[in-house]
Amino acid sequence: MKTVDDWRDYAILATANGMKLERWKDTVLLRPDPQVIWKGEDLSSRKGINAVYRRSDKGGGGWETRESFPPEWTVRYRDLTFKVKPMGFKHTGLFPEQAVNWNVMREIIGRARSGGREQVKVLNLFAYTGGASVACAKAGAFVTHVDASKGMVERAGENARLSGIDSGIRYIIDDCMKFVAREIKRGNRYDAVIMDPPSYGRGPNGEMWKIEDNLFEFVEKCALLLTDKPLFFLINSYTTGLQPTVIENLLKLCLKNFDGEFESYEVGLPTDEKIILPCGCSGLFTGR
Ligand SMILES: C[S@@+](CC[C@H](N)C(=O)[O-])C[C@H]1O[C@@H](n2cnc3c(N)ncnc32)[C@H](O)[C@@H]1O
Repeated sequence: MKTVDDWRDYAILATANGMKLERWKDTVLLRPDPQVIWKGEDLSSRKGINAVYRRSDKGGGGWETRESFPPEWTVRYRDLTFKVKPMGFKHTGLFPEQAVNWNVMREIIGRARSGGREQVKVLNLFAYTGGASVACAKAGAFVTHVDASKGMVERAGENARLSGIDSGIRYIIDDCMKFVAREIKRGNRYDAVIMDPPSYGRGPNGEMWKIEDNLFEFVEKCALLLTDKPLFFLINSYTTGLQPTVIENLLKLCLKNFDGEFESYEVGLPTDEKIILPCGCSGLFTGR
């Protein structure tokens, strides 16, 4: 399990009955979390909650405002700044547990740059609002950020500007599978690949993505995009039931021709109750 404990603008205040109570700078949100199977205090009766995400019987759900708060605001992690905004699907536009992977990638890129690598090209797939893109660009990499959602790609651009990055990220709105196939044909190569694929998803033209059916072949294809001495390949997943070792196995099978080390780990967030909330898992190949 890997966690970070140096978030100042974010904290999990409490967890119980399928819900987590979080502080995002000065705003307190209560939203569902399927990992929280333990029982306890009725968190919705606490004072000072700004909004609660309520699931609807018909599927989906929505935010119910309790105490007024700004429609959007920013949070800082170290030297990175991100916009936060309660959205559909109980999202806020940021996965704070990913800070652990941002730190790992920044360290690898930083080491390569100070060791004399002139340019580090990173491909970030299913890149969402750009947490990983911004972290890698801040470390001096040139990042190609690919996501099917125009809105998410725009948010990534905003997060980059807020973090003081005005160049170094190329934004692509596309289906990841189609983009990778085109990059293979064009002969483009990357020093690192990051992906955070959803369990299910659709590209801009309705292309279907299902993680159990598509991930292995997709990782195989992405391996064709790596330079001879790649820096890293990171896969993160929030899919319930996909064990860290499964991700590590995919990496070991698909990257067997590359010299390096493989590891996998659960990713989590410490809570004020002195427990760790599991938030998915990652597999990492680090090149030698
Ligand atoms: C789980 S989120 C990624 C989280 C992100 N990496 C982070 O740490 O903040 C999944 C993203 O994949 C995108 N997506 C889903 N299917 C896609 C596809 N076929 N091609 C491109 N992007 C897709 C969605 O728009 C969404 O932004």
